[in-house]
Amino acid sequence: MVNCHLGFFVLLSFVVSVCGASRNLPILSFDEGYSQLFGDDNLIVLKDGKSVHLSLDERTGSGFVSQDLYFHGFFSASIKLPADYTAGVVVAFYMSNGDMFEKNHDEVDFEFLGNIRGKDWRIQTNVYGNGSTSFGREERYGLWFDPSEDFHQYSILWTEDQIIFYVDNVPIREIKRTAAMGGDFPSKPMSLYATIWDGSDWATNGGRYRVNYKYAPYVAKFSDLVLHGCAMDPIEQSSKCDNAEKHDSVPTGITPQQRTKMENFRKKQMQYSYCYDRARYKVPPSECVLDPKEAERLRAFDPVTFGGVHRSRGKRHHRSKSSQGGASSV
Ligand SMILES: *[C@@H]1O[C@H](CO)[C@@H](O)[C@H](O)[C@H]1NC(C)=O
Repeated sequence: MVNCHLGFFVLLSFVVSVCGASRNLPILSFDEGYSQLFGDDNLIVLKDGKSVHLSLDERTGSGFVSQDLYFHGFFSASIKLPADYTAGVVVAFYMSNGDMFEKNHDEVDFEFLGNIRGKDWRIQTNVYGNGSTSFGREERYGLWFDPSEDFHQYSILWTEDQIIFYVDNVPIREIKRTAAMGGDFPSKPMSLYATIWDGSDWATNGGRYRVNYKYAPYVAKFSDLVLHGCAMDPIEQSSKCDNAEKHDSVPTGITPQQRTKMENFRKKQMQYSYCYDRARYKVPPSECVLDPKEAERLRAFDPVTFGGVHRSRGKRHHRSKSSQGGASSV
């Protein structure tokens, strides 16, 4: 926190970028805010009562879930991912109401996809609304740091008309609710989840590299867990608070400065976007705003998925399957 105070006298924006938006938000202890979901002693709560280690070994993965469901809010965690060989390993930090609404659930995902040694983790974001699981809206990116080297903050802002994904205060994706999306925009209370599991069948190069338990246990470390929203009873729709999103430390949208950072991030780091995947969607979904430069860059990155290369139907099918990656993965 020394840096924060120092930064304050230098420049306000410096404070924001160094200290993180969630720093002043209350952090619940694990026992107050969460319950174990699975994985018996592969979930460990540290002595501070707030930090959690989730591990995956040959027996099981592990995970936890918030005790309450929330209707809108700001949700965040500092996460340090396992290092070295992590192919096939998936760490997920997400919101869902799949256990309450089996047929028409909502979901907002961060998924971290492990990799072979020497290659970096990738992250994927996705959103489902009202059971739209046959319609994936995945994006996948590299990061500007090694997420296994240190803790970094990953956050989701969910309001009535937008969802913003953040990495260390850099917005990386903004989803605006459009009329054409209809029920595909999450609109029912959701719980917050964190899990680690074996995603051998799709996580790394579409299943080419599987989890190798010689390197287990794989440990994902979580701290600074923030639940800042309206806890709500999803059946009675009664809420325990008003205007929970309003807090000095909770972002309300993207500042012009942040927008520049987001655009730079997406230019450099985006590796997959459903909007440009012609193998999956012949006509880009209505909410997509296509940028010819982005299309060209993705095509250079992956000519098969992003068009311009002729191939047989069978091949196309195979490719589109692997590029879907995490569709309906949690
Ligand atoms: C959600 O899906 C159900 C059917 O599963 C449908 O009756 C309802 O109208 C949908 N809601 C929205 C907001 O689209």
